[in-house]
Amino acid sequence: MAIREIRKEGDEILYKKCKEVKNFDNKLCILLDDMYETMKKNDGVGLAAPQVGILKRVVVIDISDADKRKNLPETGKIELVNPEITEESGEQTDDEGCLSFPDLFGKVTRPYKVTVKAQDRNGKWFKLTGEGLLARAICHEVDHLDGHVFIEKVTEYTKR
Ligand code: NI
Repeated sequence: MAIREIRKEGDEILYKKCKEVKNFDNKLCILLDDMYETMKKNDGVGLAAPQVGILKRVVVIDISDADKRKNLPETGKIELVNPEITEESGEQTDDEGCLSFPDLFGKVTRPYKVTVKAQDRNGKWFKLTGEGLLARAICHEVDHLDGHVFIEKVTEYTKR
């Protein structure tokens, strides 16, 4: 595994649409492992492939550390390949940040609950439903795959 460089605000790769993953090969496994290590190293709860310069529909999420602070059950590592949000309900407004915008935090309104359909690293389809922070992380990371970043949705900047 290796730590990859995180692309920051202004890097045009962050604003491009990612391509569907068609090959579930060793290269994909290395990308997922590297993304997870890079995310953990930087204390993130989610990372999308364009943030490490790869225009592929690949996301990693792990809200365990944040969950512990909020006393919620641990969910562990989540890998989403070719994710599509299939259902969403409710609404939540809370502070959000992004490893590509390390100095910016702001209020973003997201659905409270979402269901996502995705493939695992072997290409097998599954469905996952998340609420609260997990729903927020899924929406934030799926936005990255379409070239959208959270500052487009910030209604008020906050200091952390
Ligand atoms: Ni982000």
